Amino acid sequence: MDMWISRHLVVIWLHLLYPSEALPRYSNGFFYQDVMNGNGNGEIFYSGVRLYVESPSPSVAAVQGSNVTLPCHYRYEPEIKTPRRTRVKWFRVTANDGSREEDVMVAIGARHRSYGGYQGRVRLRRDAPGDASLIINSLNVDDTGFYRCEVIDGLEDESVTVELEFRGVVFPYHSPRGRYQLNFHEAKQACEEQGATLATFDQLFVAWQEGLDWCNVGWLADGTAQYPVSNPRAACGGSDLAPGLRSYGPRHQHLDRFDAFCFTSSLRGAVYFLEQPLKVNFTEAQQACLHDGSQIAKVGQLYAAWRFLGLDRCDAGWLADGSVRYPITSGRQNCGPREPGVRTFGYPPRHQKHGVYCYKSHW
Ligand SMILES: *[C@@H]1O[C@H](CO)[C@@H](O)[C@H](O)[C@H]1NC(C)=O
Ligand SMILES: *[C@@H]1O[C@H](CO)[C@@H](O)[C@H](O)[C@H]1NC(C)=O
Repeated sequence: MDMWISRHLVVIWLHLLYPSEALPRYSNGFFYQDVMNGNGNGEIFYSGVRLYVESPSPSVAAVQGSNVTLPCHYRYEPEIKTPRRTRVKWFRVTANDGSREEDVMVAIGARHRSYGGYQGRVRLRRDAPGDASLIINSLNVDDTGFYRCEVIDGLEDESVTVELEFRGVVFPYHSPRGRYQLNFHEAKQACEEQGATLATFDQLFVAWQEGLDWCNVGWLADGTAQYPVSNPRAACGGSDLAPGLRSYGPRHQHLDRFDAFCFTSSLRGAVYFLEQPLKVNFTEAQQACLHDGSQIAKVGQLYAAWRFLGLDRCDAGWLADGSVRYPITSGRQNCGPREPGVRTFGYPPRHQKHGVYCYKSHW
């Protein structure tokens, strides 16, 4: 049967099903693709073929500057023999409530088109039939967020969301009250207040491989207490032990007290040192960020900006927890030790005057 007529019949039929006219945009229900006048007696048969769009990993972590693949596959049930003309559309959801969309790319058959800052940087992988995975080259920090892979086949569209975030950074954290003050639950909360979570063993292990050396014991998400040593030394568990993670094993979650290893992975927004003529006390620092349309930065946000955006600033600034720190990516004179890192002055009295780091979310 003529394609136009068959489509037309589907439309009529759909109107019977959805008298309100408005078809649901992301329908998960059955949908009828093909209309066949099977026996020539004027009877119409509908063969129900359902389109599925799926992603094996709803969240992908990557580092700035790398190439990343956001997985997306589609298939039909029951399986169909003849290839169908599908349209694949990728877009980014740029508001928390999903109300704003930014087009990334549209592909129909072998033809495709990319948009805005994605032009020349994106393509579909198409490794196998139904592969609609998106490859983004030279990832930049604005690329993080929620992406929707939408497959449109005739009248039906289905979609799946994949989150793209930056690979995380682990940082040690201790309470304003001093070293080894946090039980497990307080450690968890302390990380959350800094825009982070308690690190897992794997995350701390990766951080140790990347050079984290820290001589204070901290809680991990699995309820163990450990610390990472790169340069074995007497003051740090002994100089005759191999480098590695030193574990105290599982500890009592209420009675035992340590510091925490926190992990922050997502960086949506920007951390910056607020330029202002005079240094400020802690309350003034909070106000100054608000005044600038932002908020005083959390420790996790500063670490993420340092690690993944190369934030480098030799000025000590207040952070939300009342600590004073500054991020260094390239060592230089009069700026503390030469290795990259986030330097901390601990928690000075709040009337002291310093700079301030603010955080502005893109949304
Ligand atoms: C990303 O992909 C481009 C083009 O395929 C390639 O030239 C480049 O080396 C890749 N970059 C990385 C970091 O793998
Ligand atoms: C900071 O200075 C303001 C005056 O500018 C003062 O009202 C406030 O109490 C001070 N805050 C602290 C923590 O000392």
